[in-house]
Amino acid sequence: MRIFSGIKPTGDTTLGNYSGGFRQYAATQEQGEAFFCIVDLHAITVEYDPVALHERTLDLFSMLVATGLDPDRTTVFAQSHVTAHAEASWLLGAVTGYGQLGRMTQFKEKGDQQEFVASALFNYPVLMAGDILLYQSDIVPIGDDQRQHLELSRDIAERFNSRFGHVFTVPDGVYPEVGARIMSLQDPLAKMGKTGSSEQGTIYLLDEPDAIMRKFKSAVTDSGRDVRRAEDKPGVSNLIDIMAVATGRTPESVEEEYGDAGYGTFKEAVGEAVVELIAPIRTRYDELRADEGELLRLLGVGADKARAAAAPTLERMYEAMGFVRL
Ligand code: AMP
Ligand code: TRP
Repeated sequence: MRIFSGIKPTGDTTLGNYSGGFRQYAATQEQGEAFFCIVDLHAITVEYDPVALHERTLDLFSMLVATGLDPDRTTVFAQSHVTAHAEASWLLGAVTGYGQLGRMTQFKEKGDQQEFVASALFNYPVLMAGDILLYQSDIVPIGDDQRQHLELSRDIAERFNSRFGHVFTVPDGVYPEVGARIMSLQDPLAKMGKTGSSEQGTIYLLDEPDAIMRKFKSAVTDSGRDVRRAEDKPGVSNLIDIMAVATGRTPESVEEEYGDAGYGTFKEAVGEAVVELIAPIRTRYDELRADEGELLRLLGVGADKARAAAAPTLERMYEAMGFVRL
């Protein structure tokens, strides 16, 4: 089985990324041949700083390894090192509807936040479809916010296969049962994101323990005092999910333990669990990040493996579409 996922080197990685991304990557790498891509080409679709992109790419590689990916068994690489991604994206543009792209909520939301809306932001999901399809991926571990993009990738694969003959595996998205959508601690109706959400409501994977405790203590909760999940209690429900993710327990067992403990006690306990989760990740990250020579070497190993895996699919795409090949 082939597994593929991608993550953008923009902003500092968060507990949301851990829950919907890193945690799942490390678990799924055990299930087959896995590819995890630092999607640097996706990072230029909104206003960005070239110097930061460079640093963030190395930061993210370190974080992927620190959270459990094993670069010996799994292919961890940067998208821009494999030119097939940019080529596949252009070719797939032939089977992607303009109307479909215009309906993507991420395009609408991010477009509204930009003064200059780059055409790359509009075409973003086509590049993402290429990422996935080039590797004949069977499963794609992602968070809930990527569901619409994944569905579009499936549509693109199906349209290509029926127009030009069977080339692509149609991938399935894999979403975590708990924690597919971690919300901001300050606004439980907004996603906890690397960019755009409040600092105080966002737990970064490199936050110091006292910052983490402070953020949890000031987390917004709801009326009432029951630590139990409910529709009208988004704040508490989010904290229960975070506790479940941090400790590997079910939300039900968290509710059982803390149901009557009161919000104050519970918030502190969640903070402590997250501090404990993050501590070893930080230590490992700091070690890895300090050795840039080794990071570049490992990126090179990943790039070679990824190029070899992507090349046959790209060739089949060109052939199926009628290009003269030499
Ligand atoms: P991004 O930061 O957009 O590159 O996302 C990388 C991965 O983290 C994707 O699989 C996202 O779905 C996931 N992710 C980002 N934010 C959250 C969140 N708040 N809750 C759960 N998963 C998330
Ligand atoms: N769009 C994804 C995000 O914002 C990142 C991404 C790019 C991706 N290419 C991918 C995720 C391929 C999974 C598979 O999180």
